[in-house]
Amino acid sequence: MADLSVKVAGVEFKNPVIAASGCFGYGHEYEELFDLSKLGGISVKGTTLTRRDGNIPPRIAETPSGMLNSVGLQNPGIDYFIEKELPYLLKKDTVIIANIAGSSIEEYIEVAEKLNDTSVHMIEMNISCPNVKKGGAGFGTSCDMAASVTKAVRKATNKPLCVKLTPNVTSIAEIAKAVEAEGADAVSLINTLLGMRIDTRTRRPILHNNVGGLSGPAVLPVAVRMVWEVRNAVDIDIIGMGGISKGNDAAEIMLAGADAVQVGAALFNDPFACVRIVDELEKWCEVNKVDKLSDISGGVVTW
Ligand code: FUM
Repeated sequence: MADLSVKVAGVEFKNPVIAASGCFGYGHEYEELFDLSKLGGISVKGTTLTRRDGNIPPRIAETPSGMLNSVGLQNPGIDYFIEKELPYLLKKDTVIIANIAGSSIEEYIEVAEKLNDTSVHMIEMNISCPNVKKGGAGFGTSCDMAASVTKAVRKATNKPLCVKLTPNVTSIAEIAKAVEAEGADAVSLINTLLGMRIDTRTRRPILHNNVGGLSGPAVLPVAVRMVWEVRNAVDIDIIGMGGISKGNDAAEIMLAGADAVQVGAALFNDPFACVRIVDELEKWCEVNKVDKLSDISGGVVTW
């Protein structure tokens, strides 16, 4: 059997498949279906300093081969997460990634500092949420802002730091370079693409927030292209995501340059998607005579 283990930002993962932030809650519902230790890792819902109730519904809309969401970073706040959810997650023999978000640099710092006294394995700093009025993608769409928040959080924590990037920019490679220069250990991409749908009968947007983030199989080619661009721009590790629903999709985004992958929207269609993708990657390695999966990272042979 092939070796599926990978290393990202110095952290060992038994396989490269991570349940994506916002699509897996804290794992309770999924644990009724399968053993969470089968996952390479879990990235938890974007967590802010204090509890947020999120945006007014409707917050989800179907799209051809995907979905729009405008959840608005609903979460119970970092103290609740540390006290009530993290201890349970840390017993699961899988890598636990705390996805953090904020509406100011000070908030990011405070949330990161609170995690210093925990055993969480990695921080994924979300500077790419398209659904909040303050912060979120506001930090991820300018090289200067992305650099400033990375510099500040880098100082505040010794945890491995991965910065989650937005595709809603002119050059995601430039943003990746800016966060690498300020000490990010890894980048994860892509967060969702900003989109909109309108109910033609009522003439109202389907989402109460008017716009939301597009994810699902429709965005895979955009993710592959952006991971490839970032791989050619930075030396730090990459977690690739966006539209992965099959083992072959995961292999594709790894060939583009990802060291590990996150699976999100596919879970709403198939709650077993992550564990199925691990099995499919194992078969992919067998068919393609790959002994160590991490060897394929960045292995695309361009024309
Ligand atoms: O609206 C949300 O909670 C989405 C967050 C994100 O895409 O980062």
